[in-house]
Amino acid sequence: MAGKKVGSVTFQTMTDILRFAIEREEEAARSYAELAQKAGRSGLQTLLLELRAEEVHHKKLLQEVVAGKSAALPGRDVPDLKISDYLIEEPLDAGSHIQDLLIFAARKEAKAAALYARLLSESSAAEHKSLFQFLVQEEKKHKLKLEQEYEQQVLQED
Ligand SMILES: [Fe+2]
Ligand SMILES: [Fe+2]
Repeated sequence: MAGKKVGSVTFQTMTDILRFAIEREEEAARSYAELAQKAGRSGLQTLLLELRAEEVHHKKLLQEVVAGKSAALPGRDVPDLKISDYLIEEPLDAGSHIQDLLIFAARKEAKAAALYARLLSESSAAEHKSLFQFLVQEEKKHKLKLEQEYEQQVLQED
């Protein structure tokens, strides 16, 4: 597995990228559940739980691609795609303010959108293209909602 090295990690195939995306979706769902708890009963909590449900749905869609139709995916290498391009550091701790957590989550959504845009550009099958197009739009929407929520929170503080 020449493509799987710790340090400068690269993906070997589309299936690798999809597995990585599935892990990111799991992680996103988990962190929205945590954030929702932290938010307490509020409009923000409702939003975060919606986001959580959508990430769970994304994970299922990706799992279907890997389980049923991976043969239809291009098998060629994608050596220039680095995992680190789609991850951001976790500078936050349990004591972080909810506003910081919202901005951090928005940045992760931007990375998710970029990952799906990359998958979109690597795909040739029409059904995969439409799935990745859908996911790009979804993650962009998530980012926007989080940013709007951030602005609201900041305004409420003044
Ligand atoms: Fe997602
Ligand atoms: Fe998302």
